[in-house]
Amino acid sequence: MKCESVKIHRVEAAPAEPGRYRNCVDRDAGVISREIFSDASIFQAELERIYTRAWLFVGHESQIKNPGDFFTSRMGNESVILCRDQKEGIHVFLNTCRHRGMKVCQYDEGNTRQFTCPYHAWSYTTEGKLHGVPMYGTLYEEHLDKDQWSLIEVAQLHNYKGTIWATWDKDAPPFLEYIGDAKEHLDLALDGLDGAPGETEVFVGVQKWIIPANWKVGAENFLGDTYHNPSHRSVDDIGIGPSAQAGRKGRRDDELSGAQHVWVNFPAGHGAHSAIQPKMLPYAEAYQDNPQVEQYFRRCYEQRQERQGEKSRLLPFVCTIFPNTSFNGRQPRSITVFHPHGAMHTEMWRWYLIDKGAPPEVRDLMRHFYMRYQGPAGMTEQDDIENWQMATESSAGPIARRYPYNYQQSLGRAGKHETLAGNVSTQISEENPRTFYTRWADYLEGDDWDRLMGRDDPIFKNLAGVDDE
Ligand code: FES
Ligand code: FE
Repeated sequence: MKCESVKIHRVEAAPAEPGRYRNCVDRDAGVISREIFSDASIFQAELERIYTRAWLFVGHESQIKNPGDFFTSRMGNESVILCRDQKEGIHVFLNTCRHRGMKVCQYDEGNTRQFTCPYHAWSYTTEGKLHGVPMYGTLYEEHLDKDQWSLIEVAQLHNYKGTIWATWDKDAPPFLEYIGDAKEHLDLALDGLDGAPGETEVFVGVQKWIIPANWKVGAENFLGDTYHNPSHRSVDDIGIGPSAQAGRKGRRDDELSGAQHVWVNFPAGHGAHSAIQPKMLPYAEAYQDNPQVEQYFRRCYEQRQERQGEKSRLLPFVCTIFPNTSFNGRQPRSITVFHPHGAMHTEMWRWYLIDKGAPPEVRDLMRHFYMRYQGPAGMTEQDDIENWQMATESSAGPIARRYPYNYQQSLGRAGKHETLAGNVSTQISEENPRTFYTRWADYLEGDDWDRLMGRDDPIFKNLAGVDDE
């Protein structure tokens, strides 16, 4: 029997009144309702309308190097399996058995020839095909067409420089169109420090922890909330940066000093904070008491300048690809996904990146730095999450929810930049979240892809108009 014979697969909740979500975001005034960070029905609408459509980061190909390797990930609040099949093809499957829905994979990662459901033992190949059905000949043969009951697979998948992205929406634009000019900033994290395209890999495992805050709070922070620097004063003062053994203060090595900082947003809702050196500068000594590490970073820096020329003046900081994938571009260099668990609970997953060719001394130094900086025990991370947790608690009460948040910082100050694409501010700005939440509302209102890609967004149309002159 064909699965299409059941006419009702899902009973949708009644559609919200038009404008319900758009009315939560006033981009022109720079005001956003607190409701969107705590309301359960809005959270449910996000799962339905954002996480079933947008491109989501699932994992890194260096986690599934061999045939049969798998990594269990998430898309929205649903478990998925990222896997390399026996013929080297990469797949992302929903982790649910087609019989009664049991998870067919119980492990975080591993290697297998097939996924066998623990409930009644249906088994699936690494290409997702239903292969084994106990007592098939006696119980099912005339009725069950195995070809109809494969694991559910994403509609589109893209491997970008080793990062694997997927969407459930067959009508979503191709991934490269979806990220648009944010690619320039994403590349800064995914290319080797020497500028070699995509020469990074994941190392030291994936950290996972749950925080009591809405997923958008973290995603927004990574759009470039430089304004929150005072909350990291203690880690700056004690100097937890990678060159800390040289007695340097700060959370990172100060390679961006003298650079022009830029806050850039893109029509599809992505946003980055990067920096541009005023000219091609010589390598700044940082690791004098660790000659091997010093030599490595110097060589990478100089090779990147040779490879990219003037383009190497652009240095990364942070970036969020809409909706929930964020990057630290350099120090540290990592990918963070804010998985939605509930209106006020988020599971943070962090992958750490390192150059594929980095020697053991560099890997070790970075491993220690990452532990000091990020993750549930990282000192910088704890500053952030204390803020996010307490802001969530104190925003959710019936009185607090009547008063919106203020997003008026540098209102009307972004525009065209001489070298960078996108809507650019050269001063600390909340323009990135203003665009992010405008797209957020478009998704929740159920808009088409033209609108979700910001093709009609007047701010970006005006930028294009400047180009034409
Ligand atoms: Fe998987 Fe029954 S739920 S075999
Ligand atoms: Fe922070």
